Amino acid sequence: MTQRPLALVVLISGNGSNLQAIIDAIEKDELHATIKLVISNQPDAFGLIRAKKHGIATALCDHRDYPNRHCYDDALLALIEDVDPNLVVLAGFMRILGSRITSTYQGKMLNIHPSLLPKYPGLHTHQQALQNGDTQHGSTVHFVTKELDGGPIICQSKIDIAPTDDMKSLEGKIKSIEHQLYPQVLQWIASGQLILQDKQIIFNGERLSPTGYQLT
Ligand code: GRF
Repeated sequence: MTQRPLALVVLISGNGSNLQAIIDAIEKDELHATIKLVISNQPDAFGLIRAKKHGIATALCDHRDYPNRHCYDDALLALIEDVDPNLVVLAGFMRILGSRITSTYQGKMLNIHPSLLPKYPGLHTHQQALQNGDTQHGSTVHFVTKELDGGPIICQSKIDIAPTDDMKSLEGKIKSIEHQLYPQVLQWIASGQLILQDKQIIFNGERLSPTGYQLT
């Protein structure tokens, strides 16, 4: 491959299994990208250990160290801008970002959300799917805008909910599809197959529908 790898900054808050899936895809040459920096807002995020194990630079940007949201966002933005990535990847980052960050990285920031958006933005998505008796659930990768979990949808992957499923089993099923979904979407962007043009996602030369590409 001659083009330069896609330079990523990954933001996490916890376990980092999606981060791990991205690292693994890069190491297996399935994703033409490089992770320049992993930033966590939680000092004990296991994802930081995962990153260090693979020689990836890490930074802690703890929201509790700043007097208000505005100051926190400024510090986070400065850290990201210092690296000047092609793409900012939110992978289980549990902070709502201010509009200065989302507008600076509009079209260059992705999130993975554990529901079939626009269904269930926000928290407790597995619980809601179970309580509502849904027969299907899934995960969505979307561009980040200032609307929480509301930006243009790139791709979704679905699972069937079995009558025996509970929160734990659903979480496991969702994580396993996410670990395919996120690296796949990133590779489409790295290869130029997927672009955002005038707020419209173009995939393989064609406009995607508002619910994005359906992976399964
Ligand atoms: C994922 O389920 C993702 O959809 C959501 O947060 C979770 C992060 O999990 N945004 P992990 O830290 O990548 O294991």
